[in-house]
Amino acid sequence: MLSEAKNHMLTRVGPGTPMGELLRRYWHPIAAVSELAEKRVKPVRLMGEDLVLYRTDTDEYGLVQRRCPHRGVDLGQGWVEGESLRCSYHGWMFDRSGSCVEQPYEDMVGSSAPFRDKVRVDAYQAVAFAGMVWAYLGPAPAPLIPMFEPFTWRRGFVQIILSELPCNWLQCHENAVDPVHFEWRHTNYIVRETDPGSPDRGPQHSGIEFQEFEFGLAVARSAELTTVLAAPVAPTSRLETSGIACLWPNVLYTGSNLEWRVPVDDTTTLNIVWNYSPTPTDVPAVEQDSIPYWYGPVADDDGEMLTSHILNQDFAAWVGQGAIADRTSERLGRSDEGVILLRKRLFADVERVSRGEDPQGVVRDPESNECIVLPLDKRQMYRDGVERAFFEERLERVFNWRLNDDPSYAVQFGQPESVRREFERAMGIGPDFLNLRGQLPDSASGECDV
Ligand code: FES
Ligand SMILES: [Fe+2]
Repeated sequence: MLSEAKNHMLTRVGPGTPMGELLRRYWHPIAAVSELAEKRVKPVRLMGEDLVLYRTDTDEYGLVQRRCPHRGVDLGQGWVEGESLRCSYHGWMFDRSGSCVEQPYEDMVGSSAPFRDKVRVDAYQAVAFAGMVWAYLGPAPAPLIPMFEPFTWRRGFVQIILSELPCNWLQCHENAVDPVHFEWRHTNYIVRETDPGSPDRGPQHSGIEFQEFEFGLAVARSAELTTVLAAPVAPTSRLETSGIACLWPNVLYTGSNLEWRVPVDDTTTLNIVWNYSPTPTDVPAVEQDSIPYWYGPVADDDGEMLTSHILNQDFAAWVGQGAIADRTSERLGRSDEGVILLRKRLFADVERVSRGEDPQGVVRDPESNECIVLPLDKRQMYRDGVERAFFEERLERVFNWRLNDDPSYAVQFGQPESVRREFERAMGIGPDFLNLRGQLPDSASGECDV
């Protein structure tokens, strides 16, 4: 349980708020590179600030305030010229540093001291990395984007999934240190939905463990197999190989997935999944000139939250906690040890930032950023690919985790067919392979590594 003041501190993300200042010390992914390849100007909202992201002629990225300082027109309606963004109302133009570089009428009739020298827009850094466009809204100098181990792998197919959730970022991220929810929100929920009368249960947790390291909290657990059921998580894991960690300040890592909970504002979160599927060793490594992305819907046509797939089950739970979870009335138990550790770290880092120090997990040394090793089992599989038979068995297993016959990406609802086809080509599987796999019966107990 937290006081109202402390809950307020952890959840408010606008400029000048303690948590807003902490989160501004890190880079955050905010869009997919392929998205900006299709559409060069994209309005974005980030930590309560309305901004416009754009791609220049040299494939650099600009990120500036959304309102034109002239008379407030939306710069998201503007267009790119060279390295700058032009407002579509009277043609004022701003470069990536925020300087006004043209005011067509004023320049025509003006004096030798141009009016444009007195006008600026707020501007932030934005760069492309790992198929995503990242933003940094903090003070200079900006740190490095952490080279987490999965970004160094070259033997897999990557896709990026974006979803906007109508709730505060922290309740989403607390899920990263909450292993007991796997048992209930996923395994037992799937059993209940599939067969309401079934007495079956997934493996029951008998212990959870957390260990802080430089970049986050490694998560491990033990569980007892009460019945033989397909489970989306390994029944037991060790800290160093669990393959699950909460990374500072807002990332869930599960081996093949990195998942950011980026605050759009106090009551909206952009969930971005960077998903890596290792390819079978009998096909060549994938050369992805552009990494596919898609927006995953979170509700159906009636506005009901979707719960057919693992990530959608999580999304519905977080949104169900309210726009901003009320931590003044919660009753934390021993299953919440990780949640408590995460909050302690955030409070400590708020203090560090207020003293002018870097918070935990900020990287500035290029040498130590060549590859940030994370807890992981089966490292070789991710680096070198998987045997064909193992690949097929994993796909079948993961299809058991969703509650319909959708043959697309089984972990989140809504993968477009074009991305599914790209996946099939990369994996060397025919067009009906996933359809067929989508209909196969349950086969094996599983692990959260797909
Ligand atoms: S409002 Fe943008 S140039 Fe006039
Ligand atoms: Fe989950």
